[in-house]
Amino acid sequence: MRKVFFLFIGILAVQISMAQVKVQRLMTENLPNPNSIDAPSPRFSWQLDAGTARDVMQTAYEIKVLEAGKGSVWNPGKIAGDQSMYITYKGSPLQSGQKYTWQVRVWDNKGKASGWSTASFQMGLLTEADWKGQWITQSAPEEASRPSPLFRKGFTVAKKIKSATAYITAHGLYEAHINGQRVGTDYLTPGYTSYNKRLQYQAYDVTNLLKPGANAVGAALGSGWYRGIYGIGTRHEIYGKDIALLFQLNITFTDGTTAVIGSDNTWKTSTGEVRSAEIYNGSVIDARKEQKGWSTAGFDDKNWAAVAVQSYPKNMLIATVNEPVKKHEVFKSIKIFTTPKGEKVIDFGQNLVGWVKFKVKGNAGDKIVISHAEVMDKVGNFYTDNLRDAKCQNTFILKGGAEETFEPQFTWQGFRYIRIEGYPGEIKPEDFTATAVYSDMPVTGTFSCSNPLINQLQHNIEWGQRGNFIDIPTDCPQRDERLGWTGDAQVFSRTATYNMNAHNFFAKWLKDVALDQFADGSVPHVIPDAFDNGKPSGGGGSAGWSDVATIVPWNMYLAYGDKEILANQYSSMKAWVDCMKGRSHNNLWNTGGHFGDWLFYTRNDDNDGTAAITSKYLIAQCFYAYSTQLLINAAKVLGKTDDEATYTKLLADVKTAYIKEYVTPNGLISSDTQTAYVLALQFDMLPENLRAQAAQRLADNVRRYGNHLTTGFLGTPYLCSALSRFGHADVAFTLLLQPNYPSWLYPIKMGATTIWERWNGIHPDGTLEVPSMNSYNHYAYGAIGDWMYRTVAGLDTKTDQVGYKGIIIKPTIGGNLTTVAADYETPYGKARSHWKIEGSNLTLDVTIPANTTATVYVPTKGDNAVTENGKPVTKAADQIAGYTAVNVGSGNYHFSTLMQ
Ligand code: BGC
Repeated sequence: MRKVFFLFIGILAVQISMAQVKVQRLMTENLPNPNSIDAPSPRFSWQLDAGTARDVMQTAYEIKVLEAGKGSVWNPGKIAGDQSMYITYKGSPLQSGQKYTWQVRVWDNKGKASGWSTASFQMGLLTEADWKGQWITQSAPEEASRPSPLFRKGFTVAKKIKSATAYITAHGLYEAHINGQRVGTDYLTPGYTSYNKRLQYQAYDVTNLLKPGANAVGAALGSGWYRGIYGIGTRHEIYGKDIALLFQLNITFTDGTTAVIGSDNTWKTSTGEVRSAEIYNGSVIDARKEQKGWSTAGFDDKNWAAVAVQSYPKNMLIATVNEPVKKHEVFKSIKIFTTPKGEKVIDFGQNLVGWVKFKVKGNAGDKIVISHAEVMDKVGNFYTDNLRDAKCQNTFILKGGAEETFEPQFTWQGFRYIRIEGYPGEIKPEDFTATAVYSDMPVTGTFSCSNPLINQLQHNIEWGQRGNFIDIPTDCPQRDERLGWTGDAQVFSRTATYNMNAHNFFAKWLKDVALDQFADGSVPHVIPDAFDNGKPSGGGGSAGWSDVATIVPWNMYLAYGDKEILANQYSSMKAWVDCMKGRSHNNLWNTGGHFGDWLFYTRNDDNDGTAAITSKYLIAQCFYAYSTQLLINAAKVLGKTDDEATYTKLLADVKTAYIKEYVTPNGLISSDTQTAYVLALQFDMLPENLRAQAAQRLADNVRRYGNHLTTGFLGTPYLCSALSRFGHADVAFTLLLQPNYPSWLYPIKMGATTIWERWNGIHPDGTLEVPSMNSYNHYAYGAIGDWMYRTVAGLDTKTDQVGYKGIIIKPTIGGNLTTVAADYETPYGKARSHWKIEGSNLTLDVTIPANTTATVYVPTKGDNAVTENGKPVTKAADQIAGYTAVNVGSGNYHFSTLMQ
């Protein structure tokens, strides 16, 4: 027995000393094994898994790209260096629709090679000529309710199939079927882009859906963003009146031959159970009209109509790069109750975005109406006034007989409660589920701490993100907006990158930002521009909203280290800065309409003037400077030295104009508000000698309001950062923990499960704020999440080694928190900052991924020693007050020090 034991230890020791670095998480264009890439030179990235080994760096890599049957199409040999992100393909041209595998191995700094790791990617349809399918529409006039058209075609497969890919898109939304089975698990496809400029298609591997002999393909369409009711008011048909399908099935047989089944004049069309479907209004489904088996081979379509073939353009079709919308969490009813008005309501316990699925048994013609609400009113009745013109109602008509299951189609709702009308029989909780539906971005971050209210705040921030990342970043998911409001997106963008991998999501949307930009460089208020749709109406151009053009690309560059985003967006960034320049006089931007510090603190009976009004032009000047700074940063990264010099000069002039116009010699800013000081500090508007006093004025202002914030959309995201950066972290924590209105925790005290649009969405007495603009799921104020990860947990990227190639761990202790834990999946792997205070002892547990380095700032008191795993640490050169800085490589570290 003893011998066996020793032998076992021996084997383990050998294994540890032999432990090799592994290569994992192979990505092509930031996606695992994507199947429709249209970048001619895709970029490859990978991570090193070094287990618990410390200080592991990559010193070289070898990559090859292979085409089945042909060998390598790119094989550059061993390449020295630690680059493991965005290696650009430089081999022979990649072919449309072709699948490739790629392999990579690395050498670490101990001279050891990893094994080979393999991944694959498939090219999309690269040219217009690759599209053999034709656009098809219904040929007869539609019924007024616009039932969803169905399209189908039967065909025979005579040979053995090796592989088959379906390429699908639509004007409107589509759901495709093959042989009675749904193609893929994506929803709201083809997603939303500036349709008249770019239209995404999706590619699906459907090899397993096909069979020898008779087959059938089909697709149902919905109006969606393309021609449904969308945008404020009753706008509809923004991109066109038609609803159309473009479908192509490329089949490769085992004998090497190929076949294409494309949408064309041999397809037939009819309608089915979806009698109408609108994003805002919901859908009407009449099960009596179901065409059972409509997408199977045996279906008799002789009564179906011929389709019309259309010559709609195909030159703007693009492959999908961002994660599609998918179903996620499923919620069960936590309570079924009857309201004072006598209505039957189910509470799902979470304000979510998606839809309800339910089972029912009844008679043919029974009609069930499901309405949706985020909150109940003061007396406990179902409240829908804040949905404005959006009906948010799904109607289902039974065919009767056996149990039926319903869910809506081509729509979504934002809700926590549903009202059920017309349900035959008893409403049982187990028959209803609510499914959250959102863009399928991988979760990257978790934040938790010893204060349950802050944990609920983090929960609410995450749910604000889930509910509003529906292929585009939206302001809200429920009322008659759900638009890509630029201001909201920019304020939340950095927080978004902590919670989820938002890289491709924003990269895709930013292209629409650039394309929809007006000729003078002004950026529309919403992207895609559902308001103006390309008409130079002069809309857009609000400070803090249009700055999306500079702020989001820069935030993405910081988080993901992807230069290509900056390169792609550079002319858009520059056009926006030039636009502000053009609208300025003597370097002062004091023209045009602005939303200002939207939804800042005001009171109804504001007799003594407590409203925190910040001059809109003062705000504009600050954002003018910030955008110019980001343009300079981008120019530096991209080596555009002329621009760097030109805009550096401009920035100095813009700041001088700001000081002259808005700041007294003593440093009082003419709008004496929190937002004014926050923007001045955050964007470095003031000369060094005026910064400390400005920070003090900011802290004093917070105290004057009884430790409350008064900021709106533009001041709030930077409020705590500005305070903590200038030595007032205590005030920042006081704001974070403030339980009373206005504050982040007030909505939580009132039962919020998402971030509200307004600080006072529900008043302390339970009455609701005005219905005209009162969403309970708006992510903007959730931008505090960035400070929680970046400052409280202290986990950040170095700005000279972006994308977490160089990591900073620098926690901020405060708020009576005793534990804080942030875990974050960086592009290189997991980083971790966990701190804990027990008595007078502080511990800091840190994980740094392989192929990165970090500076860890351990909070310290006086000269107290810091140990790592019991041993004294070697201090880094750049020590700062209150911290002991240590440079480390990859691995896990356990720091400890006394705080007394
Ligand atoms: C939206 C916003 C948006 C704002 C512009 C609202 O209706 O919901 O969040 O940024 O308009 O001021």
